[in-house]
Amino acid sequence: MKSRHRVKTYGEVFTPRHMVDQMLDLIIDDLGSGPDFVDKTFLEPAAGDGNFLVAILDRKLRVIEKKYPAGRWPAESLFALASIYGIELLEDNHLDARETMLAEFVGFQEKHEVPCGPDTDLRRAATFLIDVNIVRGNTLTGLDGQGKDIQLSWWNRIPEGAGMVQREPFTFNSLRSNGFDFTVYEGYRPCQIDKVHVDGGADG
Ligand SMILES: C[S@@+](CC[C@H](N)C(=O)[O-])C[C@H]1O[C@@H](n2cnc3c(N)ncnc32)[C@H](O)[C@@H]1O
Repeated sequence: MKSRHRVKTYGEVFTPRHMVDQMLDLIIDDLGSGPDFVDKTFLEPAAGDGNFLVAILDRKLRVIEKKYPAGRWPAESLFALASIYGIELLEDNHLDARETMLAEFVGFQEKHEVPCGPDTDLRRAATFLIDVNIVRGNTLTGLDGQGKDIQLSWWNRIPEGAGMVQREPFTFNSLRSNGFDFTVYEGYRPCQIDKVHVDGGADG
């Protein structure tokens, strides 16, 4: 708890890590032993400081280590990030969630002596994916602080292209509607996942 006011106003109570782990144990197939585990999508609608998000990333990274050769770890770890989403109302929690995710990602690369300094494509792509996927807004209304629709993106893996991805934007509210989403979005071309930060993959 940060304050009683925040508990009363925002329902802000953080889940301890051991409870997060117990809950994630219930979906172990999605997080580890099942097929396509790296791309399994998770959305935390009340992300707090990111304790569920980071625990999910941690598990995906541990399975990547076990199942893939070392040469695939950087790209697969980016795909892992690309499939984890969060929405958080409060600015400080939102910043904490993003920072915690980046620290987890960088820690994994450093453990394996993969260069991941601030100027590397790996770090820039990771930062970009976290910024696009972990957003500040109100999950109940689907709107951000400016009253605009919360926008997220699918990161579709291109099956025949190793490490290639194509960004497909959508609004959070479109997930709740039954009809089609007729919004016209910016077009994105396929790119290597460690280059998503270059124009966001936008089709110039
Ligand atoms: C009970 S805490 C849970 C945080 C984290 N999921 C955990 O289990 O530790 C709820 C979080 O949701 C945020 N929150 C409250 N109302 C929200 C809303 N309408 N949209 C998005 N986030 C909201 C709060 O700021 C707080 O960080």
